Amino acid sequence: MTIPTTVRIVEVGPRDGLQNEAKPISVATRIELIERLAKAGVSHIEAGSFVSPKWVPQMSASDEVFKGLARQDGVTYSALTPNLRGLEAAIESGVREVAVFAAASEEFSQKNINCSIAESLSRFKPVMRRAAEESIPVRGYVSCVLGCPYEGNVDPTQVLKVSTSLMEMGCFEVSLGDTIGTGTVGSMRVLLDTLVPTLTVSHLALHCHDTYGQALANISAGLDYGIAIIDASIAGLGGCPYARGASGNVATEDVLFMLNGMGIDTRIDLPSMVETGNWICAELKRSNQSRVGLAASVS
Ligand code: HMG
Ligand code: MG
Repeated sequence: MTIPTTVRIVEVGPRDGLQNEAKPISVATRIELIERLAKAGVSHIEAGSFVSPKWVPQMSASDEVFKGLARQDGVTYSALTPNLRGLEAAIESGVREVAVFAAASEEFSQKNINCSIAESLSRFKPVMRRAAEESIPVRGYVSCVLGCPYEGNVDPTQVLKVSTSLMEMGCFEVSLGDTIGTGTVGSMRVLLDTLVPTLTVSHLALHCHDTYGQALANISAGLDYGIAIIDASIAGLGGCPYARGASGNVATEDVLFMLNGMGIDTRIDLPSMVETGNWICAELKRSNQSRVGLAASVS
C-alpha cells in the first residue's frame, strides 16, 4: 500500500476539544474558534454536539453555535447526535452532517451513552433513516479501539464487528477512536491488519488521543495502510468526560507539521493554525498542548 498524497483533516477541537473544559465557554468564543479554523483552510469541522446538557454541559447551546456561524463555502460543519432527539435538534439548527458514536467496549458504552453496544446500534437505526430522508451524511465513531479505561485490552475483532455494523447501517465513514491513547504502532498494526482486508480503507479515519504521546507514530502507521482521514484537535485541546485521565486529541498543528514534512497535502495553513491555537489557549487560560504550536511561537 502506498501512503496517501492528500489527507483530509477532521478538526474536532470545537467538540472533542471543548467538551471537557472545566469552565463555561461562551457561544461567541466557540463560533470564533470555528470561523478561524475555516479561514485557515480546514474543510471539515466538528462544531458541536446535540447530547444531554446534563451529561456534557459544555456542548449545550450547540444550536446557537450552528445558527450563529458565518459558514464558508466548501466547509462541512458537523455535529454529534446520539439519538433521534439529537438529530432533530441538529436538523433544526441547520446541521448538514452528523455523527453517531458507538464503542468497542461494553463498559465504556454504558458509561458514555448509558446503554449496551447492541442497544446503541439499534438506537442509531432511526437516526440513520431520518438522516437519509434529509440527505444528511452520517459518520460513525468507534471508541476504545486500542484500549478501554474500564476493560483494558480490546479485541480487534470486536472493533471490526462494530465498525462493520456502522457501515452496514449506512455510515459513510468510520472513525477509529483511541480514546485513552494507549495504542502503539504495534497494536495499531494488529488492529489495521484485522480491519483493512474487510473494510474499505478510504472509509476509515483515525481519531487518536495523545495521552501516552503515541498519536503521531500511530497516525504514521495508519498512513502506511492508506488511511487518509485524520481527526485532530487544535492545540491538542480536550479529553473525554467518560474516560478518566484521557487527554486531548493529537494537536492539529503537530499532525500538519508531520504531513507537510512527508509532502502530504492538506490545504491547511499551518501558521494560521498556530495563531489560532495560541488564541484559543489564551481565551481558555490553558496551556498549549501542541509541540509545534509552542516551538513556532518562541520569539
Ligand atoms: P439516557 O439517560 O440513557 O437517555 O442518556 P434518556 O433518553 O433517558 O435521557 C436522559 C435525559 O437527557 C432526559 O432529560 C432527556 O430529555 C435528555 P431529563 O428528563 O433527565 O431532564 N436527552 C437529551 N437532551 C438533549 N439532547 C439529546 C438528548 N437525549 C436525551 N439528544 C444520552 C442517553 C445518549 C442522551 C446520554 O447518555 C448522553 O447525552 N451522553 C453524552 C455522551 C457524550 O457526549 N460523550 C462525549 C462524546 S463521545 C467521545 O468523546 C468519544 C469520541 O471523541 C471518539 C473517541 O475519542 O473515542 C467521539
Ligand atoms: Mg475523542
